[in-house]
Amino acid sequence: MRTYTRGAPTVFFIALLWPLVASVVGVAEEKDPSGGIPFLGGNYDGHPMLYFGQGEVEELQVAAAGTHREMAARIRAAGEAMLEHPEEYLPPWSPAEFSARWNEVYGNNLGVLSMFCLLYPHRAGALDLAKDYMERMAAQPSWLVKDAPWDEVPLAHSLVGFATAYDFLYEYLSKVQQEHFLQVIGNATRYMYEKSYIRGWGFQYLHNHQPTNCVALLTGSLVYMKQGFQRTVAIADSNYNWFYGPESQLVFLDRYVMRNGSGNWLAELIHQNRVLEGPGRAGKGQRWCTLHTEFLWYDPSLTPTAPADFGTSQLHYFDDWGVVTYGSALPADTNHTFLSFKSGKLGGRAIFDIVHRNKYKDWIKGWRNFNAGHEHPDQNTFTFAPNGVPFITEALYGPKYTFLNNAVLFSPANSGSCFKPWAGQVTEACDSKWLKYKAGLAADAQGSVQATLERQGVVFIRGEGRFAYNPDLKIKSFQRNLLLLHPQLLVLVDHIHLEMDSPTRAMSAFFHNTDLPFQHTKIDGVHGAFVRHGEDPYKMFWMDDTGFSEKGVLGYWNYPRGYPYNGCNYVNVTMPLRYPHTRVAYIFFGPGVDVQSFSLRGDAQRVDIYLATSEHTYTIYLLTGEVTTKPLFAMVLVDQKKIVFEKGVGVQNDTSEEVEEYANIVEDNLQHAKPVFQQLERLILGRVLNTANFRKMAERLLQFSDKKKTEEAIEKIFAMTKKQGKGKGGKKALGNLVEKLSESLPDIFAQIEVSEKKERSKSTKRIIEEGPEEGDGESRAFMDYGDSKKGRKGGFVKGRKFKEVHMSATAKSDSLASAASYIRLFLILNITTFFLLLAVLLTRFQRGRSLHTQRCFYGILLIDSFILLWLYSSCSHAQC
Ligand SMILES: *[C@@H]1O[C@H](CO)[C@@H](O)[C@H](O)[C@H]1NC(C)=O
Ligand SMILES: *[C@@H]1O[C@H](CO)[C@@H](O)[C@H](O)[C@H]1NC(C)=O
Ligand SMILES: *[C@@H]1O[C@H](CO)[C@@H](O)[C@H](O)[C@H]1NC(C)=O
Ligand SMILES: *[C@@H]1O[C@H](CO)[C@@H](O)[C@H](O)[C@H]1NC(C)=O
Ligand SMILES: *[C@@H]1O[C@H](CO)[C@@H](O)[C@H](O)[C@H]1NC(C)=O
Repeated sequence: MRTYTRGAPTVFFIALLWPLVASVVGVAEEKDPSGGIPFLGGNYDGHPMLYFGQGEVEELQVAAAGTHREMAARIRAAGEAMLEHPEEYLPPWSPAEFSARWNEVYGNNLGVLSMFCLLYPHRAGALDLAKDYMERMAAQPSWLVKDAPWDEVPLAHSLVGFATAYDFLYEYLSKVQQEHFLQVIGNATRYMYEKSYIRGWGFQYLHNHQPTNCVALLTGSLVYMKQGFQRTVAIADSNYNWFYGPESQLVFLDRYVMRNGSGNWLAELIHQNRVLEGPGRAGKGQRWCTLHTEFLWYDPSLTPTAPADFGTSQLHYFDDWGVVTYGSALPADTNHTFLSFKSGKLGGRAIFDIVHRNKYKDWIKGWRNFNAGHEHPDQNTFTFAPNGVPFITEALYGPKYTFLNNAVLFSPANSGSCFKPWAGQVTEACDSKWLKYKAGLAADAQGSVQATLERQGVVFIRGEGRFAYNPDLKIKSFQRNLLLLHPQLLVLVDHIHLEMDSPTRAMSAFFHNTDLPFQHTKIDGVHGAFVRHGEDPYKMFWMDDTGFSEKGVLGYWNYPRGYPYNGCNYVNVTMPLRYPHTRVAYIFFGPGVDVQSFSLRGDAQRVDIYLATSEHTYTIYLLTGEVTTKPLFAMVLVDQKKIVFEKGVGVQNDTSEEVEEYANIVEDNLQHAKPVFQQLERLILGRVLNTANFRKMAERLLQFSDKKKTEEAIEKIFAMTKKQGKGKGGKKALGNLVEKLSESLPDIFAQIEVSEKKERSKSTKRIIEEGPEEGDGESRAFMDYGDSKKGRKGGFVKGRKFKEVHMSATAKSDSLASAASYIRLFLILNITTFFLLLAVLLTRFQRGRSLHTQRCFYGILLIDSFILLWLYSSCSHAQC
């Protein structure tokens, strides 16, 4: 928490004031005498300043005609499209219309429009369009959506787009526009800032946009489908492909991290394979959203180069996420197969463990600080795309029901289930758009990957999902095994081991396809389903270890209004369960395989599955028991060839060590950045002290802190300015003032930080206490952080290195106090010395001097003493 809050108000304040500074400077036709503040190589002396300075605009225009030609063409196409049909893209004037629906599109498109204007300033009408666009946005009393006033996400999109356009096009705006738009930015920023006290995203390290971007990046390497590189794995709330980017993130990664051309290469490939028509195409609201950052971050000197292992099927285990993938990064073709499996900890292993082991106590207050609301109840889910054809897919962004994932439900449910008598995973949300994860059983839900192995082209994956279900079901083990025997033949085996007194009697396994409807099929009493992709059938059949197969329920589940998708096709395979264990095997195969026989048989230790295709016979010995006689997961006989999946090498965990004293290292690093902001603060203060605007803003900002102190601080600032103003005037005076201020002004930012910290911890506590979902207070996840008082008092840990940099919230207040006491001490000493001198004077100089001289001495001393006394008294009032 401390890390988060610390510095935030300062940065916010600076962000708010900076354009103001620029405008003040602009009006006065003055240039910053110090030439700006160098910060990580930046030199912010006006607009544009976000990504580049005025000096670089010409370079960008040159790049647009040269190295960045291809991206510039896309920016141009976007701009021209908007110019051609402005009525389709311009925000409405009417606030009712503007707020009637989800409206991130306005902010999302404005970024690229302003880039277009910047690159092609002579394109007739472009600037007028952009200005009209901004006027319309500025005319809105609010950027929120009427039906979701609690959701700041659309506002955030508008704010980002609007502020970017403001920065890019500043010099083209009229003075009136500059001021008006700035107010709009200030208002929206302030609104966001205030909401950050009470909204999850204000203190959650994992929230809405973060997974979107991270997942986009991650899945950049996990793409598949028809031409390849068109679909994402689509685990949790996903689109067919990327919402934002990922080209922009990939070129960023290449430019600043990898520097070997593979980021540019993948960005290019994804761009070439973008779906332009149909459901897979980029959303109208998002397609241009990151185009301007892609343009800015692209480094043409990095020649697109395929990664060394491109074109070969690789097994990847993302051990934090709990996701296994096989065969990504293949162009779609016969036998080019993609398979994924997921069984992991809620929120990812790192976050889950931080929450459950109560780590980083100063910052993290349980699930409060993370938002897993976009995840799904999907432990032990999988997807399968033989030949690059999405046969079994995830059901994308929809309600958080277990059966809308390729997961399993059990029956009968005892309590609290959404679809009685069926019990889904405990994270399932019945009456909310978001996953349940904050408290109770849901807060502890997890799955685990137990094996990921590839032997001679055969892949074996095993996951355990028992901890995702209510313990009242008394399920000892819910093990899901995947065996990819051939690129077009997958065997899935569910092993359910019940406890003796388990009430559970049945299971329903679900399988989805977003695009194609399933149809029934049946061979020799074995039920199945298939989809048709063009002429090619992709089939599945199922059977349990008694040889029984139940007809599936096929259908289409319509999503309620408010989701980006209408719904999804599904197969519901419901089978009875027996004590102690039941195994159900499902086979999936593409047109290149013809399964002729399929059977299975089990005993306490293992289940044997026989499969015959026209080319091979497969015998699978799957050891399902937790304790097995042989150290094996499974053995497969392909004709006469023996393939063994041995235990002991099941899962390779990431072995990276935890950094010791991590919190302190972060603190230290933060301290390095502080002086830069300190310097900026003073520069800004020095420039804007006189303006009425500044006063208003300072008042508004300081409203969080102690009223009396606020007034004093403001008075002090303005008293000082006035005095200075009466002086010689001009630049010199300003320079003097800045110097003076930096020496003697109470650091109002530090004060803001101190009070903001107090406010934030108060409101966090309030939320925790009053949180509607956690009202009963019995939630284990929140139990152990009630002792907020126990946290460190000072800003520093004992023995920290960077004591001398005093800018952090509490440290600053400490050092403020100590500075004040030093001054006091100094004054007292001074006064003492003065009286001592006086005494010396009285005794020594008594004789031999003229009365006149003596009077003069006394007079001077007396005046001096008054000055000292006055200084002292004023000092003790205002904390110096
Ligand atoms: C900014 O907010 C203030 C106070 O809420 C309001 O009076 C003013 O009209 C707003 N300005 C703009 C440009 O929206
Ligand atoms: C570039 O770096 C990435 C990440 O380290 C790596 O996966 C990739 O193979 C590299 N590309 C080349 C061409 O070496
Ligand atoms: C597909 O893979 C199978 C098994 O590896 C192989 O026998 C078959 O020839 C492959 N088909 C093509 C078209 O590559
Ligand atoms: C799945 O099928 C079973 C058996 O027909 C049925 O009882 C159950 O309600 C179905 N589940 C859903 C969610 O439709
Ligand atoms: C990997 O981590 C999981 C969970 O922390 C643990 O249960 C498992 O034993 C580990 N596996 C190995 C091979 O270290």
